[in-house]
Amino acid sequence: MKTRITELFGIEHPIIQGGMHYVGLAELAAAVSNAGGLGIITALTQPTPADLTREIARCHEMTDKPFGVNLTFLPGFTAPPYPDYIKAIIKGSVKIVETAGRSPEAYMPALQEAGIKVIHKCTSVRHSLKAQRIGCDAVSVDGFECGGHPGEDDIPNMVLLPRASEELAVPFVASGGIGNAQQLVAALALGADGINMGTRFIATKEAPVHQNVKDALISASELDTRLIMRPLRNTERVLLNPAVEKIVEIEKVKGDDLGIEDIMDLVGGVYPKVMQEGETDIGAWSCGMVAGLIHDIPTCRDLIARMVSEAENIINGRLVSLL
Ligand SMILES: Cc1cc2nc3c(=O)[nH]c(=O)nc-3n(C[C@H](O)[C@H](O)[C@H](O)COP(=O)(O)O)c2cc1C
Repeated sequence: MKTRITELFGIEHPIIQGGMHYVGLAELAAAVSNAGGLGIITALTQPTPADLTREIARCHEMTDKPFGVNLTFLPGFTAPPYPDYIKAIIKGSVKIVETAGRSPEAYMPALQEAGIKVIHKCTSVRHSLKAQRIGCDAVSVDGFECGGHPGEDDIPNMVLLPRASEELAVPFVASGGIGNAQQLVAALALGADGINMGTRFIATKEAPVHQNVKDALISASELDTRLIMRPLRNTERVLLNPAVEKIVEIEKVKGDDLGIEDIMDLVGGVYPKVMQEGETDIGAWSCGMVAGLIHDIPTCRDLIARMVSEAENIINGRLVSLL
């Protein structure tokens, strides 16, 4: 399958693994890239830029294919040293960066000077247009279904993707809610040049997370996610668990008066415990509605090969037969 995204990034299949905190380590990024997709290391999971340098070097040892690094701009009081993380990316000869969270405008000159291609992940057409205007090479359009932060507009991909297609000149991938071949074909039909998957890649053999996390995704249905932190305008889609039930309850009582301190112990610093120690009920962690479509734990190679070959069968078989 050849699209503007496979051409832009020099990859075989138009399938990207989105940055994921405590999931996007070298093992997963290399496995996705070796399978012909684009694997992505999550920069901020590495405590310091020096750790990111080491993680990038580990990934180079595991694959000679292109891979990227995710830089998430957090809404926080103390910003991580982004310029130093960017230096680590440049020093590590990484040629693709996925930005997210806020506009990467301030960092575009440094990234472009180093010949790095930037794909910005955002949740609306207006933010996609801004990304295009400031020189991003591509956009990842993240619909309401997505795991993580869907923004505040609540537009599902069935509408968001064709709207992006109406407006954008740069290539874009469909992100959010995707986990199988039918959806890959649908994304292409809706105007996207490929797909970005998060949650689906957690339930793979190579994802470096505790088995409990993978089992939780297999057990979950499409009804088992919740939106939290909406009153803080930092909405996050997470897997329902007892901690999330507690957050929802607190948010009901506090309403618009909710402060981050009211739920801090249930949302802050929980990722290492969830992902590494398998304490999946200890707090809130991102998960998409696509959990309802996850029924197995394949290797990244099997997942990507299956999606691409089934997509070709859908296009050549069912779709052509309708004409
Ligand atoms: C556990 C988890 C952690 C994530 N962490 C990040 C992150 O640190 N930075 C980021 O830009 N996106 C993050 N995301 C979002 C993904 O990159 C991707 O955009 C999203 O998962 C797509 O939706 P899907 O899960 O329905 O495929 C995370 C998603 C999950 C499920």
